[in-house]
Amino acid sequence: MIKVGILTMSDKGARGEREDKSCEVIKEMIKSIDGEVQYYKVIPDDFDVIKEELFYCCDRLELELVLTTGGTGFSPRDNTPEATLAVVKKQVPGIPEAMRMASLEKTPQAMLSRAVAGIRGKTLIINLPGSPKGVRECLEVVMPVLPHGLDILSGRGGECGKE
Ligand code: MTE
Repeated sequence: MIKVGILTMSDKGARGEREDKSCEVIKEMIKSIDGEVQYYKVIPDDFDVIKEELFYCCDRLELELVLTTGGTGFSPRDNTPEATLAVVKKQVPGIPEAMRMASLEKTPQAMLSRAVAGIRGKTLIINLPGSPKGVRECLEVVMPVLPHGLDILSGRGGECGKE
């Protein structure tokens, strides 16, 4: 079982003015890698709030995987990548690179996502776009490597030397 947190970044969602459909996509998709959602919150696009929630997920809850959705674009209130970078100790550039590469086959708008991924302690944080379609298209790219990556990160093992 993989301990998962979902943070949805949305000013409107946090005020109860928008339904969060992206989290449903994440919840459904991570079942196939035995992911269990242990924390879920809709929060405003506020740099400090996002940072505090990420600290909480990593340091207090010790989740293995935190998936954020939304707040990666060009709006003045899109603060998710910056807050993530303020929290992680190591970046994992291959994850957003792969997401953007695959997404560009579907839409040129993929270039507009500034998503990042990184590691704090034993937690991997991955930024996903805000739309349910974007979430699906990005998550399906990274999901196949997550069990192996998280096995290594947690210290459970993970043999990389296989042919
Ligand atoms: N990536 C995929 N795979 N599919 C999409 O539809 N939408 C893009 C992009 N990434 C999209 C995508 C769009 S339109 C934007 S503006 C950026 O993600 C940022 O989205 P966000 O601000 O909701 O995080």
